[in-house]
Amino acid sequence: MDNPLILIVDDELPICQNCVKILSKMNYNVQYALSGYDALKMLDEYQFDVVITDLKMSNLGGMEVLRRIKEFHPEIIVIVITGYASVSSAVEVMKMGAFDYLPKPFTPHELRSVVYQALAERKILLQNQELIQKKERIKSFSHQLIGDSPKIKKVISMVQKVAPTDSTVLISGESGTGKELISRAVHANSARKDEVFFAVDCGTLSGNLLESELFGHVKGAFTGAHKKKDGIFRLANKGTVFLDEISNISLNVQSKLLRFIENREFLPLGNTAVQKVDVRLIFATNQNLEEQVAGGSFREDFYYRIFVYPIMMPPLRERKMDILPIAYHFLKQFSRDLDKKITGFDANAVNRLTDYDWPGNVRQLRNIIERAAILCEKDQITLKELPLLGDIGDIEQLIDNIPATNEELKQIKKVIRQKAVAKVEKNFVTNALIQNDWNVTRAAQKTGLQRTNFQTLMKKHNIKPPSPAKPT
Ligand SMILES: Nc1ncnc2c1ncn2[C@@H]1O[C@H](COP(=O)(O)OP(=O)(O)OP(=O)(O)O)[C@@H](O)[C@H]1O
Ligand SMILES: [Mg+2]
Repeated sequence: MDNPLILIVDDELPICQNCVKILSKMNYNVQYALSGYDALKMLDEYQFDVVITDLKMSNLGGMEVLRRIKEFHPEIIVIVITGYASVSSAVEVMKMGAFDYLPKPFTPHELRSVVYQALAERKILLQNQELIQKKERIKSFSHQLIGDSPKIKKVISMVQKVAPTDSTVLISGESGTGKELISRAVHANSARKDEVFFAVDCGTLSGNLLESELFGHVKGAFTGAHKKKDGIFRLANKGTVFLDEISNISLNVQSKLLRFIENREFLPLGNTAVQKVDVRLIFATNQNLEEQVAGGSFREDFYYRIFVYPIMMPPLRERKMDILPIAYHFLKQFSRDLDKKITGFDANAVNRLTDYDWPGNVRQLRNIIERAAILCEKDQITLKELPLLGDIGDIEQLIDNIPATNEELKQIKKVIRQKAVAKVEKNFVTNALIQNDWNVTRAAQKTGLQRTNFQTLMKKHNIKPPSPAKPT
């Protein structure tokens, strides 16, 4: 309410003009209408803060103006001027929701003071409305995170608490756990939801490039800077910036970000004039930042500055009860996209999905379900469509698998190594036993292993001496 807008309604022109004169001195914007009927038309056109109306008018009286305002514009404050200061009409207009009444004749001081009070009342009214709206926004919390496990529920409730604030958020968790989804939920449930959300992958931008992307640069700031460029922080003004994979940020850019966090001010590259913006920051990492601080690749002061509201995304293997709901969610989505009618998973498929450790987390689960949906020709996903890592006996088959992410590559390497070693170990122990007529002590001696270690290997590979042939 910088310049309050006030409407005077009276069928006597001199009264209108007088009120305009008195109130204009207060820096108010004042208009007038010479009938109740004209007033109603103006109410549809402008957003008045206060309406001062005479009670008795030939063309639609003040009582009717008041009634319509309370019905269609309840946030407008109405003051009624009464020519005949009868108690009964005063009581009546107050009952109908008028803020106050002003008996004629009134002094300029009386008029100003009642308008002043009315504006104060309106301010409170607006603030209350804003509060209610804010509460409703928080109530209608929305997100796309599937899962009922206590761990994901805790994450969701943390998001709900922090979203409406402007607080910096740090999300950590393994690759594919849903860090970006969380950051979008924080933005979508904040007052900034209608402004931009800018996601920056700090892992793919080298030091200098990241700096100029974030802060912008002036023409000629460095070789290749042919023209001035606004940075992400400027473009995202009033919105949210999500900085992903922050463990990759160079120490130099970390120190610039630290300064930015402290006062939301920055210098574009090559510029000397400080710029100020209003952005909310969300950080994410799949690395252990404390270790990086200890190792010197991450500034300690920067770490503490962003460690305001940390949200840890638990890996999928630590919330196994979420696997099936998420799997069904993706199956429904892909089945619809592929125009298929796949209704679910058979019992074996369910067991395999829930037994698996999901090193690539939800992203890997999504990929596997997508592949299964493409392969599936019936109405249920079976083991045939789920050639999951770690379940394949044959190394040859594993080698043919094409990993989709670094996590999957790591996992596949681990499984191949384990399986290859196991095969060699089993052959080694079995052969030594056969060579030594299943005498464990001698087999251990010959191979150079301690007897207990040899026995451990036998147990590991479930190697037992052949049962004596039954006499015929
Ligand atoms: N709880 C969940 N419910 C539904 N979908 C999810 C859930 N968690 C993650 N996803 C989906 O899994 C995929 C990976 O999530 P996201 O990109 O947010 O992970 P991330 O932690 O940012 O991974 P990275 O570290 O690799 O960037 C996305 O398709 C996302 O929509
Ligand atoms: Mg991500």
